[in-house]
Amino acid sequence: MASNRIKTLVCYYSLDGNTRHIAKAIQQKIDAEGLELRIKSPYKYKGFLKYFIGGMQVIFRSRPPLFPLGKDFRDYQLIIFGTPVWAGNYVPAFRTLFPSIELKKKKIAFFACCGGKVGKTFDNLKKALKGNEFLGEIEFQEPLKNDPNGTKEKAQRWAQEILGKIKNE
Ligand SMILES: Cc1cc2nc3c(=O)[nH]c(=O)nc-3n(C[C@H](O)[C@H](O)[C@H](O)COP(=O)(O)O)c2cc1C
Repeated sequence: MASNRIKTLVCYYSLDGNTRHIAKAIQQKIDAEGLELRIKSPYKYKGFLKYFIGGMQVIFRSRPPLFPLGKDFRDYQLIIFGTPVWAGNYVPAFRTLFPSIELKKKKIAFFACCGGKVGKTFDNLKKALKGNEFLGEIEFQEPLKNDPNGTKEKAQRWAQEILGKIKNE
């Protein structure tokens, strides 16, 4: 596949599988590598507490320790970050990740999975990753529940568009 030439990493976090579903669809279509962030003390709550604890971590800007990444971000031309929306923002795992990788002048795109509204997720991601080139962003509302196949295809089309932008430069 021609898209092989652009070395791409899909870096994501997923608590309930939606973001993973989109990440895998993209990886498969454009032959990208995947990096799922894993926190050392996984959230084990359900129902209200799940939202409460996660939301508090966002509000208090927690940086939950991550397991080793096993990838070097410098090796990739394009990095696609995928996050669930928590309290209108990206998840705490990225707050741990970003200071440790110091990305500069990279081509970057974002996707987010949410229950209804992305809030400031994309704006805040761009602020956190200032100094890079942003090629696009897309959101999905509960893809596993609503339309797993349709969202898979939508994600794959979007990823190809992002790659197309790089090839046409
Ligand atoms: C702690 C927590 C906070 C959330 N906050 C929001 C929110 O502010 N806005 C929203 O639209 N969805 C919110 N959601 C819903 C998730 O974004 C949505 O279920 C998403 O698809 C989950 O992705 P995942 O399955 O990859 O974990 C929240 C979910 C959790 C667990």
